[in-house]
Amino acid sequence: MKPVPGELSKPLLRALDGQAIWPPPIWLMRQAGRYLPEYREIRARAGDFIALCTSPDLAAEVTLQPIRRFGMDGAILFSDILMLPWALGYGLRYAEGEGPILPRLTDHAGIDVLDPDRATLAIAPILETVERVRSGLSAEGFNATALIGFAGAPFTVACYMVEGGGSKDFAHIRTMAYTDPALLARLMTVLTEATITYLAAQIEAGAEAVMLFDSWAGVLSPSLFRAHVIAPAQHIVTTLQARFPDVPVIGFPRLAGTMIGSYANETGCDAVAMDTATDPAQAIHMVPPAITLQGNLDPLALLAGGAALAGQTETILSALRGRAFVFNLGHGIVPQTPPEHVAALVQQVRHA
Ligand code: CP3
Repeated sequence: MKPVPGELSKPLLRALDGQAIWPPPIWLMRQAGRYLPEYREIRARAGDFIALCTSPDLAAEVTLQPIRRFGMDGAILFSDILMLPWALGYGLRYAEGEGPILPRLTDHAGIDVLDPDRATLAIAPILETVERVRSGLSAEGFNATALIGFAGAPFTVACYMVEGGGSKDFAHIRTMAYTDPALLARLMTVLTEATITYLAAQIEAGAEAVMLFDSWAGVLSPSLFRAHVIAPAQHIVTTLQARFPDVPVIGFPRLAGTMIGSYANETGCDAVAMDTATDPAQAIHMVPPAITLQGNLDPLALLAGGAALAGQTETILSALRGRAFVFNLGHGIVPQTPPEHVAALVQQVRHA
């Protein structure tokens, strides 16, 4: 999809294109969610979380809520990384206060149930959400806000499938990588291809940038990181870039540590999102200057507010001045965050 004339005047898209614009554009991971009373209201109306993600009118509404409040430069599609395995036919439910619960994938039969044709039908409401958000942004006059689509990176999605939900250390999948590498490789191939199809469909529906969330990239040893984080991201990025050369891809290899440099250099992504533990002053030397950096305020500094928030924000801004940069958190907003702290953060970044 060619950018419409004037489209690259959106600050987020210019920054992702490699321009060091200042003040930097800002959006926040989990900017739609439980810390907003208007989200909790819609969430209660939808019933369960999957119903919310598959109701285009409600999902589009909650995507737009933080834009109306804070005028963010990016609107991230409201959905979840686990909606892709769900669409492929894999079991998924969200237990109140416990997070996602899935069947534990232990053998080839767990992969046999994944059906790409089923996914094509099942993702239709999510693509409709993308369309509605894109037209809603222009209808409401948010002409500077870009729409971000996303998917979980194959490894992180596989983590939840193999573990059957969240985990402290994802020991099952890390063991599987050594005891049954062929099984993990097959799962990764299926998920990688489905992710490409899913992100391409989001771009065709109107996403102007896409982000690949690899939240558990940091649990892997260097060789497994190359095999299950860098290699699939490289395949996803190069395939998407060949089809959609103007749509930037943001990679988020969370807790990658010093591997962030290899990730940036080898995947071909347009931007790399830094997690909370990354020192931006070091990341600017590990990540080539043509690649945009995004991040990385501690979500708990945002929760704390006041001088801690202002000080941490200033440190990040001064480390990245002169770089192509997008201000964000190092991980998602926590539900207890006062919305006024988000407003104060946006003010500070706007006046950088
Ligand atoms: O605003 C946005 O950022 C867009 C929507 C979005 C959600 N999840 C909504 C959500 C995005 C981009 C995600 C990504 C996601 N989901 C990741 C990658 C980023 C990260 O946080 O590491 C992961 C690992 C998931 C899986 C997931 N979804 C978990 C572990 C949980 C339970 C934890 C929790 O916060 O409740 C979810 C549920 C979820 N996804 C919620 C939201 C708003 C909370 C559900 C609710 O409203 O009850």
